[in-house]
Amino acid sequence: MELKTTTLDPLINLTRKENGNKDLTDFANHVTAGLSHTPKKLSSRYFYDGPGSALFQQIMELPEYYPTRCEYEVITENKSAIAAHLASEGFFHLIDLGAGDALKTKILLKELQERRAAFEYLPVDISEDAMQQLSSSLEKEIPGLNHQAVVGDYNDSLEWLQQNKSGRKVILFLGSNIGNFEHEESLGFLRKIRSHLEPGDSLLMGIDLRKDPDTILRAYNDFAGVTAAFNLNLLHRINRELGGNFDVNGFIHYPIYNPQEGVMRSYLVSKQEQDVYIQATGRSFHFNAWEAIHTESSYKYTLPQIQAMVEASGFTLETIFQDKEGCFADVIFHAV
Ligand SMILES: C[S@@+](CC[C@H](N)C(=O)[O-])C[C@H]1O[C@@H](n2cnc3c(N)ncnc32)[C@H](O)[C@@H]1O
Repeated sequence: MELKTTTLDPLINLTRKENGNKDLTDFANHVTAGLSHTPKKLSSRYFYDGPGSALFQQIMELPEYYPTRCEYEVITENKSAIAAHLASEGFFHLIDLGAGDALKTKILLKELQERRAAFEYLPVDISEDAMQQLSSSLEKEIPGLNHQAVVGDYNDSLEWLQQNKSGRKVILFLGSNIGNFEHEESLGFLRKIRSHLEPGDSLLMGIDLRKDPDTILRAYNDFAGVTAAFNLNLLHRINRELGGNFDVNGFIHYPIYNPQEGVMRSYLVSKQEQDVYIQATGRSFHFNAWEAIHTESSYKYTLPQIQAMVEASGFTLETIFQDKEGCFADVIFHAV
């Protein structure tokens, strides 16, 4: 049984490449491709640098941001049933994809520890700041927890886990991160997760459900403007890391919900015609007045869509847990 942590490095960084600049080169290439594309687009994965992760923590505390509150309720109310399921077959690796501050996972970790379950916790996140903070908070809040944080993107981390961790695996994918994938990509990603699991392994996924469009829109357009600052931080990050000269005040945060597609889309809209030079790309990018950059999609699901997604990706549906208002679902997928 792989229970000892004393020799484990508390943080594995899969993004530190030998030339030291691989991440920045990837970011610069992404920005060049996205700002040259018609219409312009940037990926939400670049939201989460240090300031972005801190802003997301503030978002999770906003009165309008129901997803965290609802998922917190689902996990708290069902922690005993979930922990019993996870720990039903002896030692397991608990892999938390896009763990962030693991606010909700910590409820399960404490429950598992109380039950003296045999497991190793492996939070994974693209944000090094988030993983450093999580490692130290785990040491203070859950002493004795067997854990090792992995800094890397989902794909590289799944490969690393495949090569380095054998035995039963349970994957957590909370916070409706799946909603950030376009529908076809989400199926591809779930199939990829399934290909890294063995029959009998599980996936616990948090999924935001369709509801009153106004409730959804408010969650991404809060009164205090924290979500606006979070979206605009992407331009600050380009300025900081790639030597951009974005006038961030020349852009506005614009979110819109499409109730037919069940998708919340966020944009950054240029208030005037302008050119932006980005040193690391060696290029200028032109913006027409009111031209937008698409920065995030967040899909909301129905229960039948979830059922279809489970079946199309090589799993069976074990259990659906929901909050009292039916806002959010945490679903156990069983690998067959
Ligand atoms: C919406 S937060 C959710 C955090 C947490 N799971 C929760 O439920 O509160 C998304 C997290 O996923 C991470 N993330 C986004 N894209 C990622 C990627 N491609 N690979 C790894 N982590 C990613 C972000 O850094 C961020 O911490």
